[in-house]
Amino acid sequence: MSGELRHLISINDLTNEEIEKVFEAANRYLSELGDPNAPHRIAKSTRIGTGSILATLFYEPSTRTRLSFESAMLRLGGRTISSADPATSSAAKGESLADTARVVSNYADAIVIRHPRDGAAKLVAEYASVPVINGGDGAHEHPTQTLCDLFTLQREKGAFKGLNVVISGDLKGSRTIHSFVYALARFGAHIMLMPGGKGMELPAHVDWRLRHEFHSLPVPREKYEKENADIDVLYATADQPHQPTLLSASDFKEIDIFYMTRFQKERYADGAKSDYMKVDSEFLKGSKYKTASVMHPLPRVGELDADLDGTPRAAYFRQASYGVPIRMALIAAVLELDAQASLEKFASGFRAKAHPIHSQPRELGIACPNTNCITHDPQDGGYAGNKFTVIANDGLRLRCYYCETDVRTDIAGNVRSKTYAHSDPANLHDVVFFANEADAQKAGFKPGAHNHAAAE
Ligand code: NCD
Repeated sequence: MSGELRHLISINDLTNEEIEKVFEAANRYLSELGDPNAPHRIAKSTRIGTGSILATLFYEPSTRTRLSFESAMLRLGGRTISSADPATSSAAKGESLADTARVVSNYADAIVIRHPRDGAAKLVAEYASVPVINGGDGAHEHPTQTLCDLFTLQREKGAFKGLNVVISGDLKGSRTIHSFVYALARFGAHIMLMPGGKGMELPAHVDWRLRHEFHSLPVPREKYEKENADIDVLYATADQPHQPTLLSASDFKEIDIFYMTRFQKERYADGAKSDYMKVDSEFLKGSKYKTASVMHPLPRVGELDADLDGTPRAAYFRQASYGVPIRMALIAAVLELDAQASLEKFASGFRAKAHPIHSQPRELGIACPNTNCITHDPQDGGYAGNKFTVIANDGLRLRCYYCETDVRTDIAGNVRSKTYAHSDPANLHDVVFFANEADAQKAGFKPGAHNHAAAE
């Protein structure tokens, strides 16, 4: 294998061209190996993966993701090894993810990991010596589900640009939504948010990234509320800076996709929600939904009525079946099994802008603010660094290297002079960031002028 390992932790690890390449290969597998009676289903196998082994490490329940990855590997002619129950793996004895990653790298050619902690897949990628694919990490991301979602959208609607996509349900806890909205923004769809209940809005850091990194801007409410009073926020991805304000009500009259998700009860301390929205054929009767396809990553647990199942607009079972050709294409790309599916630029990924990564001592300075981040795990946290991507944009923003949650701060200390100041240091050498002045003082730092240059 050439160059850097090709991990897929975030959907933003792939460029748009690379995503299109995965889709080309998936379409090819569907036409060459598909079931003539069911165009979304793979029915035959190839031998291009003969001799390769895929490990699936699942620390959280799964039906579709694990089984479709395993089916995909078998359809490619490869083999799989699986640890699907943390209670029967060495995790139950207290083994760290880092050690598991190092060990399993010697048993398989690629690893798929699902874990309840945000950032766990990134940690595994740090320690593995084979490619790592994120099968869902806490509430962070689920990039391979997004590949299935986008592929479904393309097969249902033909193109992405200017599509009106309603994203509904648990916008806070659904990792599928976080990966999906980044991709929708990158492909120029209009994103219409409909939270399923109170407190289920998109996390602030995801909203920030949509606006500042993916050129999505909220459309003023008066432009859409006549047709879409139930939409909380509507982002349009601008080709030009003022475009969202130029769009008019008629641009949002018809919904192309209605994407529903379940309440992610396992991500909330109280675990119960009585007021969660419900979608059925009555709900989708309105004229704006006339041609809308209904999508859902599944499982559904009552929020999407079975009365929709028989209608051609119900795309969710096709969406689930695309998991096989999509994951075949992805495995083939990552393991370089298929010359036509190779991703030359895979290592770079989609990056609006390159930002420096800053590492600071675990016992000093600010830590990731997300309590579900892998960095806070009693068993695994010690293997993760206290690392942040430093984003200077209207003040400083530190993005956790693992779970990508942001924290704003402007308190930068210097470990040599033991002083701190409100500053935006251009040179990160000897710098340690604190959440506030009180924390800096508690750590023995004194207010003072910096002896490193402040950014212009
Ligand atoms: C999703 C997940 O695990 O995040 N499931 C899946 O992979 N299709 C969605 C969910 O569990 O709600």
